[in-house]
Amino acid sequence: MRKIKIGLAGLGTVGKGVYEILQKDAKLISQRTKHQLELVAVSSRSKKDFIDETKIKFYADAVDLARDPEIDVVIEVIGGNAVAKEIFETAIKNGKKIVTANKSLIAENGFELAELVEKYNSYIAFEAAVAAAIPIVKIFRESFSSSKIESFAAILNGSCNFILTKMQQENLTFDEAQKQAQDLGYLEADPSFDIKGIDTAHKLAILSAIACGSRPAFEQTHIEGIENISIEDINLAFELGYKIKLLAIYKNHGPSIEQAVYPALIKSSEKIAQVDDSFNAILTKASNADWNFICGRGAGSLETASAVVSDLIDIANDRHSFMFGVENKNLIDVKIENISQRFGQYFLKLIVNKSLAQKTDLSQKIFGEKIKIEKAIFFDANEEILCGFITQVLQESDLLEIMKNLDSNLVRSAKFLRVENSNPL
Ligand code: HSE
Repeated sequence: MRKIKIGLAGLGTVGKGVYEILQKDAKLISQRTKHQLELVAVSSRSKKDFIDETKIKFYADAVDLARDPEIDVVIEVIGGNAVAKEIFETAIKNGKKIVTANKSLIAENGFELAELVEKYNSYIAFEAAVAAAIPIVKIFRESFSSSKIESFAAILNGSCNFILTKMQQENLTFDEAQKQAQDLGYLEADPSFDIKGIDTAHKLAILSAIACGSRPAFEQTHIEGIENISIEDINLAFELGYKIKLLAIYKNHGPSIEQAVYPALIKSSEKIAQVDDSFNAILTKASNADWNFICGRGAGSLETASAVVSDLIDIANDRHSFMFGVENKNLIDVKIENISQRFGQYFLKLIVNKSLAQKTDLSQKIFGEKIKIEKAIFFDANEEILCGFITQVLQESDLLEIMKNLDSNLVRSAKFLRVENSNPL
């Protein structure tokens, strides 16, 4: 048995969780590792009271920690790209392995880093980067390695799920719900990454790469966030039998794939619609494994640190795979379809001039024969009628054309959201 010496870069929400697990679960961890783990250095913007500096070195600059010859494994939980990339490059070139929760760096620079890893015979473990406590990287990369992943639909951002849940269940405004998410430490340093769907898209790019054996293709992802979702949208969808969730969608259509993030309606009876609060979930269709559904905490201090420390134990036990499931030289460049090519159902929310319409023939009057409506609901509001429609399947480019040409005297405002009905569970 030898000692594996660890440097922990970052003592924020996740870093603190890592430190706590290494202390409180030291015995359990030592029973599960071939080699003894020892935290020898930390790095953070400011010194922290809970670190005993008589035993653990402190670095103000994490790049200096990454250079420390005593350290075998660097845990990077600072986040962001620029500094983190320098830490990674320094650590790898100095013969160290890395454990990270950094989704943006892996999604945006993952292939470049994988090549560096190969060159220096290093390793980057990143389970904590996607869906925190859910071991989905492992499931996709190792457990489903005998199947082709055909599609998945996932909730990958704990903050957005928390906000949408609070709006729906407690009638909180967006801002009130966001404040609660912030207080619980779920949001990114820049919350717009969560709200605008960027964080979900980073995680989606990582899972998509593993699912189809490609280089991560974050830049091509279609991204919409939850910033324009109102309580009225949520309530209208609910009356029609649906819940609104921010979804990451992957569908492999052969030469090209769908890879997109958007808020979507899902039937309230479906399992993934029932995933609330800060929970994440991934519903996967794999060629031989068929349907699989996994749900767990997608944000939080100990929850994310749980994945970080498990990765550390894997490194201590010499367990590792190709970063994206396939040898670097065999990773393909994937083609992502334009969202306008999407075939699916849509939810339409329209405000209609009451003096020009009767509720009885409203769908016909608005859409004629152009769109077939599967379900409709109407609410009177003074001079207007608030309408919610669920369409039958059509192509998004056709829907956009129809929406553009609606009678503006009759329809005062119109918006649409996508409907996903993905599974038999
Ligand atoms: N801000 C992220 C989320 C943290 O809310 O999901 C975990 O990646």
